[in-house]
Amino acid sequence: MEKLEQLYEGKAKKVFLTPDPEILIVSYKDDATAFNGLKKGTIAGKGVINNRMSNLLMQLLEKAGVPTHFVEELNERETAVKRVSIVPLEVIIRNIAAGSFSKRYGVPEGVVFDEPTIEFSYKNDELGDPLMNSYHALALKLATREEIELIKSYAFKVDEILRSFWAECGVTLVDFKLEFGRLSDGTIVLADEISPDTCRLWDSATGEKLDKDRFRRDMGGVEDAYAEVMDRLLKNL
Ligand code: TMP
Repeated sequence: MEKLEQLYEGKAKKVFLTPDPEILIVSYKDDATAFNGLKKGTIAGKGVINNRMSNLLMQLLEKAGVPTHFVEELNERETAVKRVSIVPLEVIIRNIAAGSFSKRYGVPEGVVFDEPTIEFSYKNDELGDPLMNSYHALALKLATREEIELIKSYAFKVDEILRSFWAECGVTLVDFKLEFGRLSDGTIVLADEISPDTCRLWDSATGEKLDKDRFRRDMGGVEDAYAEVMDRLLKNL
């Protein structure tokens, strides 16, 4: 698959055109940001891990009936994906209180919910990705009612599949963020990435954080944590 000119550069990935208008190549960087780009750094080897992990998890989801943008892993940092127009919603599923949920509602991190929760943020860096409900998304015409229902049902299905997969790896899936896109025919598919950048992953036995919170909170051991979850995933495939 030939890489043509760069289409876009995000905080963690670059996106390139290919000769096929329906296919793009994403290239994963080691750059890390937090707090809407306010905190910047590098996590050595992160791009390689996130590329591999996201591809493996997307293939797992595809097999379980969740359509994704995944096409083919090209090398350790690059993957061919279906071209989508991103629905500008960050879809967040939570199984356990942590992060902004704990802060917003004054709940200690680690409180386990009876049922998973879903929330949306408007994907808009200038506005700081504000929280919104599905009626707001409809009002702003970010998606149709049918698309929002489909996105919700895919997101909860992703949670069920990934929660049980990670549990087998000795890892608790606390929460995660998904993004969806539309193919040229309007089909909704899971896009972006699923990685320790976009999930909270805690060691099931010790509660140790094995995700980007180590970077966000200056906890150290960031590279080791990414390597550890990748290792556990590979052992359990
Ligand atoms: P939060 O608790 O900060 O709202 O984060 C919820 C989940 O979403 C967590 O797993 C990290 C992920 N996330 C992203 O992937 N990108 C983001 O920009 C933010 C704020 C969170």
